[in-house]
Amino acid sequence: MKIAVCPGSFDPVTFGHLDIITRACDLFDRVYVAVLNNPAKKALFTPDERVEMLAHATEHLDNVICEKFEGLVVEYARHRGAIAMVRGLRAVTDFEFELKMASMNHHLDKDIETVFMMTSNEYSFLSSSAVKEVASLGGDVSAWVPGPVAEALVRKYSMAGQRG
Ligand code: PNS
Repeated sequence: MKIAVCPGSFDPVTFGHLDIITRACDLFDRVYVAVLNNPAKKALFTPDERVEMLAHATEHLDNVICEKFEGLVVEYARHRGAIAMVRGLRAVTDFEFELKMASMNHHLDKDIETVFMMTSNEYSFLSSSAVKEVASLGGDVSAWVPGPVAEALVRKYSMAGQRG
């Protein structure tokens, strides 16, 4: 069985992420979508909320498992029996960061390959940060994230607004 990991922050999941996850599911027998649980990094959604949104958005895919992980991604991938980590590449600005990460991960475990997929054109400038910025200012993000995620963003920012 060929197993891959799609690691990320997914804060929150976008249609760009789902494009990559769906295509990874066509190439691998099982795909673990792994949400980094990093208490040092400030996120809008908790790791459990992010996993729940991902699980809901991928429920039509029968070879996906969504969960959180801590620590090194190569160790997590090894524990899951993965042969590859799949990452999406958008504009050239992603390249340097991804090259650095892939090189480090290769150094840490040469048996786990990083596989890059070019993000589909319509999502090449989409990012979770841009979605959060638009949502925080009251803009409509329904073209970029699944409905329940758009609703969760509205709830988060209206709660933040009430807290003042
Ligand atoms: O969605 P992101 O924020 O671009 O994902 C980055 C992520 C979670 C894949 C990366 O930060 C990661 O793998 N972190 C775990 C720690 C690790 O293994 N670091 C070594 C590679 S630089």
